[in-house]
Amino acid sequence: MLKPQIIFLSLFLFLFACKPSIDSDEKTTPVEVTEEAIDETVPLLEINLAHAKEEGALSTTEIVNVSFDPVFKRAKKYEAIPLKPYLEKLITASNLDTANTEIIFLCKDGYNPGMPLSKVINNEPYLAIRDLDASEGKNWMDTLQGKWNPFYLIWTNHSKGDKGYTWPYGLAHLQFKASDAAYKDAMPIDKEMVAGFELYKEKCMKCHSMNMVGGVMGPEMNVPKNITEYWQVADIKAFVKNPYSYRYNSKMPPVAGLKDEELEVIMEYISYMKGQKIELD
Ligand code: HEC
Repeated sequence: MLKPQIIFLSLFLFLFACKPSIDSDEKTTPVEVTEEAIDETVPLLEINLAHAKEEGALSTTEIVNVSFDPVFKRAKKYEAIPLKPYLEKLITASNLDTANTEIIFLCKDGYNPGMPLSKVINNEPYLAIRDLDASEGKNWMDTLQGKWNPFYLIWTNHSKGDKGYTWPYGLAHLQFKASDAAYKDAMPIDKEMVAGFELYKEKCMKCHSMNMVGGVMGPEMNVPKNITEYWQVADIKAFVKNPYSYRYNSKMPPVAGLKDEELEVIMEYISYMKGQKIELD
């Protein structure tokens, strides 16, 4: 199915790319949009949240209570901007198919977690701009004040144990992609590897890209070299469990709640992907 926004975007890019030849004497062929011409991995829409705020689209703030904030592991209170009304406007304006759209939250530090748009709008997402526990004149409790800006994503309708919600700080951009295309290049062809892919998506992808799909906080796992082509699998497993046992100042936190069997399945998937590399330009 061709999505109108993709057609629009592709048409725009196509016209843009072709612009110089319009002025030349060459005969110009009419623009024809074919399915092949469309790159489905292109975002349907990308929003710079700070710009949206400057333009007044994210101006209302409220004082909101969070019953369990997983970053602080307790109840918290914030001054925050409701995100849902803004998302609803974007959905209408850009004709987004809520059932088949993934939001990728792009953060300043390269942490890029994703969530289905339907799940996001079924809850109450807010963009926190101030932690009410912070001392007078400060917006955040942390000594690293800047790391929370421009926004910290929080959820008011969330209790301890609710799965699949992400709480990123330093949130700067929202990217919308068609769900079936969003992770395409990282999906294994072999169906037996899908379980490993799903686990990788949950536990690693927000920080590590696979075939350039995913976060950029940690290194890419497959191109041009698959991580298993230069790290021993046993070392990777030990590193994931405790990065500080390899590098005292590692920027990778130990992956919480990861069972040995799960890591095994993730490793099989990562290693399998060396046979499914994307081509680099
Ligand atoms: C919160 C982000 C985050 C998550 C989640 C994460 N990583 Fe990392 N990872 C990093 C960062 C940052 C590095 C950079 C290395 C350093 O600072 O020591 C790294 C480094 C690595 C390395 C070493 C590569 C190298 O050459 O330095 C491996 C292997 C690795 N990660 C595997 C994994 C796997 C497998 C998972 C999922 C089970 C995972 N990571 C989850 C952030 C993350």
